[in-house]
Amino acid sequence: MNPSGGLVWHWHAWRHQHAWQESINQIGQWLEEIPTPSKELVLIGASAGWMMPSAWLQRFEKVTTFDIDLFAAALFRRRHGPALKVSCTQLICHTSDALTHLQPLLRAHNRAAILFDNVLGQIRFHHTSIDEVSHRIEAITQSLRGRSWGSVHDAYSGKVVPSPAPRSLPLKLKTLQTPHDVSDNARMKAPGIAEFCKQLQPQGEWLDHLTANVFPEGTPIHHIAWPYSTHYCHWLQAGWVTV
Ligand SMILES: C[S@@+](CC[C@H](N)C(=O)[O-])C[C@H]1O[C@@H](n2cnc3c(N)ncnc32)[C@H](O)[C@@H]1O
Repeated sequence: MNPSGGLVWHWHAWRHQHAWQESINQIGQWLEEIPTPSKELVLIGASAGWMMPSAWLQRFEKVTTFDIDLFAAALFRRRHGPALKVSCTQLICHTSDALTHLQPLLRAHNRAAILFDNVLGQIRFHHTSIDEVSHRIEAITQSLRGRSWGSVHDAYSGKVVPSPAPRSLPLKLKTLQTPHDVSDNARMKAPGIAEFCKQLQPQGEWLDHLTANVFPEGTPIHHIAWPYSTHYCHWLQAGWVTV
């Protein structure tokens, strides 16, 4: 059983495309701001690319996707294949565990930009020990030294005041990655964060996805709300690390 993918995920994503559109647009705008770092892109946790604009993928000569989900490769090809054919972008989709085998993957794609596509915050669901999750995330980011890479991932998620209609998202917010030894309390006091939290209309305690130190200090971070359902929201953070 895959806790962060599989048929239930695809069904949910397909049904919520309209409700997610504003979050998808904001991810697209963030991606457009990134100077295209390479002609080759590796997407880790690509799934079917439900939240990935084809237009950004068309910038590349070659896109290689990785996902452990057995349905992801075929669905990704179906959703993005036609657009990538138009741009003559080569598309290769793998079904494999890219996080466990990251080092050989990085060596095999030594010129590619690497995008962790909403997967680093999911590591939380694949291990029971919080220390193990933090250790895994740290090992992943360490191994990316000297590479051009980015990630969009869950920072927090939780219940919100229910809204049957598509909700308007919090105002766009961009901050810089704080030093890694800063406490969670201090992080929450960064300019704009309190207002962003308030606009999410959270209820109760939210889940920490343990991604607070994914990016090196000073990396620009875009904060994006993702209304996963009428009563549950994810707080995504997106950043790109250039060499
Ligand atoms: C939230 S979904 C990603 C959504 C996707 N980026 C999209 O736009 O549709 C997380 C994905 O990460 C995948 N995943 C989890 N662990 C993985 C791993 N170790 N290697 C590759 N993919 C993984 C899951 O199977 C799932 O499809």
